[in-house]
Amino acid sequence: MKPVRKAVFPVAGLGTRFLPATKSVPKEMLPLVDRPLIQYAVDEARAAGIEEFIFVTSPGKSALENYFGALPALERTLEEKGKDDILSALRGSKLPEASYSFVRQDEARGLGHAVSLARRLVGDEPFAVILPDDVIRARQPALAQMVTAFEQSRGHMVATEAVPTEKLSSYGVVDIKSQTGRVQSLKGLVEKPSPARAPSRSGIVGRYILEASIFDWLSSLAPGSGGEIQLTDAIAADLGRTGVNGFAFEGERFDCGSVQGFVQATVAFALDRPDLGAELQNFVTARTAPLQKAA
Ligand code: G1P
Repeated sequence: MKPVRKAVFPVAGLGTRFLPATKSVPKEMLPLVDRPLIQYAVDEARAAGIEEFIFVTSPGKSALENYFGALPALERTLEEKGKDDILSALRGSKLPEASYSFVRQDEARGLGHAVSLARRLVGDEPFAVILPDDVIRARQPALAQMVTAFEQSRGHMVATEAVPTEKLSSYGVVDIKSQTGRVQSLKGLVEKPSPARAPSRSGIVGRYILEASIFDWLSSLAPGSGGEIQLTDAIAADLGRTGVNGFAFEGERFDCGSVQGFVQATVAFALDRPDLGAELQNFVTARTAPLQKAA
């Protein structure tokens, strides 16, 4: 059985909800506290044993492409000045040379299309897909939880979590046959259903482990929801042949594709930090006490 060694990061989105910032800064470079969004995704991948990183980018993402390289002169300066904390943060942002690559999506044709472009780089082995907009705060990083479950189950695997009914139409939604622990055996998946047609309240969150057979479907599928090639549709089409499991991960997910989710994640991650948390807690408490009294 081949291990999961590669991860695909679809980062071609325009980030229109974060305009005007995203006029000149890719959405994935916006900082959550002091690390760009993409760093959280890469760290989660590394914690799951990923060794090769494939980014599907689009025009205007050169800041992202520059991010993973080394800055030897700056490292030397920080070393000389004894700025060890900053140096280790800087080093942590590097990826080994030749461990990462970029493929370009020239037109916004959907998540499924973006993933299909990684076919040659992925080859014939299972691989992870991480959507950096979905940031997960968890005791054990979410993808690592999934890799452990995948090694026992095989077949495609999608992360899931309960979603409020009125929001189901923004997600892929799974149809669950049975559940053992966190693993859900699926009998269907639907991309962005109306609440009335949703088969459950379990939405797909942006973590996948896919078998290479997915590429056969991605290259032949007709456009689905929103006129785009949908990853959910390809997984659903392969269900009869390869099998699909949902994985109800342990952890708290923030939708950093929305401004509200991004701000909430910023507060949650800052509160976790030993160097920032206590002071921020006091600030937030002082700020919100009058509001609470008024309510
Ligand atoms: C994508 C997927 C959807 C999934 C969601 C999770 O949608 O197509 O199935 O539920 O990510 O964030 P998007 O948010 O790109 O519209």
